[in-house]
Amino acid sequence: MSTDPLVIFTPSGKRGRFVVGTPVLTAARKLGVDLDSVCGGRGICSKCQITPSYGEFSKHGVTVAPDALSPWNAVEERYDSKRGLKSGRRLGCQATIQRDVVIDVPAESQVHRQVVRKAASARVIEMDPATRLYYVEVEEPDMHEPTGDLERLERALEAQWDIPEIKADLATLARLQPVLRKGNWKITVALHKSHLPGAHHLIDVWPGLHEDGLYGLAIDLGSTTIAAHLTDLATGEVKASSGIMNPQIRFGEDLMSRVSYVMMNPGGDVEMTQAVREALDTLIRELAAETGVAERLIVEAVFVCNPVMHHLLLGIDPLELGQAPFALATSDSLSFPARDLDLTALNSSAQVYILPCIAGHVGADAAAVALSEEPGKREDLSLIVDVGTNAEIFLGNSTRVLACSSPTGPAFEGAQISSGQRAAPGAIEAIRIDPRTREPRFRVIGCELWSDEDGFAAATAATGITGICGSGIIEAVAEMRMAGLLDPSGLIGSAAQTGTSRNIPEGRTHSYVIHDASADGGPLITVTQGDIRAIQLAKSALYAGSRLLMDEMGVDQVDRVVLAGAFGAHISPLHAMVLGMIPDVPLDQVTSAGNAAGTGARIALCNVAARAEIEATVRNVVKVETAIEPKFQEHFVNANAIPHATDPFPNLSAIAPLPDVSFNSGGEDGGGGRRRRRRSS
Ligand code: FES
Repeated sequence: MSTDPLVIFTPSGKRGRFVVGTPVLTAARKLGVDLDSVCGGRGICSKCQITPSYGEFSKHGVTVAPDALSPWNAVEERYDSKRGLKSGRRLGCQATIQRDVVIDVPAESQVHRQVVRKAASARVIEMDPATRLYYVEVEEPDMHEPTGDLERLERALEAQWDIPEIKADLATLARLQPVLRKGNWKITVALHKSHLPGAHHLIDVWPGLHEDGLYGLAIDLGSTTIAAHLTDLATGEVKASSGIMNPQIRFGEDLMSRVSYVMMNPGGDVEMTQAVREALDTLIRELAAETGVAERLIVEAVFVCNPVMHHLLLGIDPLELGQAPFALATSDSLSFPARDLDLTALNSSAQVYILPCIAGHVGADAAAVALSEEPGKREDLSLIVDVGTNAEIFLGNSTRVLACSSPTGPAFEGAQISSGQRAAPGAIEAIRIDPRTREPRFRVIGCELWSDEDGFAAATAATGITGICGSGIIEAVAEMRMAGLLDPSGLIGSAAQTGTSRNIPEGRTHSYVIHDASADGGPLITVTQGDIRAIQLAKSALYAGSRLLMDEMGVDQVDRVVLAGAFGAHISPLHAMVLGMIPDVPLDQVTSAGNAAGTGARIALCNVAARAEIEATVRNVVKVETAIEPKFQEHFVNANAIPHATDPFPNLSAIAPLPDVSFNSGGEDGGGGRRRRRRSS
């Protein structure tokens, strides 16, 4: 048996025997231990810090003597005096193995360190970025052996980092010669390695050791807002997040009106492409200024977006997406230089990655949700609903994942609702109705107090009470149903039928008054019969989409429901179920994934292997087209009732039995709701 010293690395537990004098970094590399290094063991980057442990380790069967590693050397002394090493730390490239030793690799010295997210459904992101820094020492040119600087850099990278081939664009090539000479032939390069086969791409060069890091952007390009997260590519830390309105709104509020704008105005797509690219540059510039990160250090951007935004970002006319069969120009992921998008606020060789689209209605944003939530990696059956103007819905488990998109319309965002508004300070976001008195109390965005609590009036004096946002209207309708103000068909009762003067007549129908400031010139905030109908249409579309996927999967129930999207995070699970937006499940199995699309973008930015993973996942997702599926209409009609005409809701009945009321005594609105009810009966 070998008598060479035994080296045990923690936390990995990897172990092996090495001859006396082997540097710790070399041992780590041989064992595949995750220990970072930018300078390649030259003692200048300090990325390889380790902590040796001494004493008795019965668990590992070793005793570590104080002289298990070589004494401090001059390089470590110099580093410590200049920069300071934490107590107990050594440089892994300088300390050599002398005797049996247990060595801890602290998190900050791991290349593939894990970034823990704060959200409840936290998926841990393992750092494995596409763009990294490498310090290299390049041979000087020689008259007798004429080779170019790039070729000698290539040779050095192969010898020192095992990187066989690089390609450089003209802008970087132009920087190479002066930087090599300035750095006295010692330089740091940023290399981008795609998940696809091919050479490393030379992104930038710096003289000597570059210590200011590299950054990337995870960008969620939505039809209303563009959100970007400036992320440190070594640590995964989000340095700053910021959002900006999508300037395309001036061409149309929603996606289809933007497609119509293109149909009516030749060249309209070019205007919209230019507008969104300019907004992106502004947003990136603001993030760089806010964090003090030089724009040149931003070397990557990952985009997630719906298909129309995708095409308009790329400069592709979205016309085909506005008509059946909704053909995408390409559904594959895309990788290309940022300058192809005319983006100037980042490194001139920065690379862009756009996640694949799933179908003509199910975009890269939905793919990002799938990447973040991973329904295909669980045994239980998950229904993931990303609520927006178009809802993207996934149903799946480890055997199969299905996806569809359902046209919910803008009602959930407060549009087409009489007192509706976007989620902004002053908007009612939560409401409770006392089932006995039928009196409401509510909370508005920007104030933690409920309206019946002391100090509410003063706390909301600045914003006022201005309307109801999406989560508020969902709660209002569900609370009205729970309080017996609304019957299962969605009809609001009269004051006589419900016993509250808050139900006021409005034409041949009734409205429920939530807040009346009209005496002081303020708003009268009500839920009208028309509002109920708009919500019924939206929630029926959502439920019918889910139900269609359940049919395809051959199931009548799901194990868990995940509400995704910025809006999804604010929906109360109980109210969503009372309304019948989602199928019946135990309430504790309804969770919010927050902005899952944005998280998916961050994962793809920080972990290059995740790009290959989502591309494979998307290829295997079964797409169900709601528009051509006859069953969709049937499910839609049945879902119009609150919570549903035929599907049982046993979990809901156990916690919130709904009053058995009926207000259908004639004189209803005569709108689409009644016609649909008749069809379903
Ligand atoms: S590897 Fe750079 S200091 Fe050790």
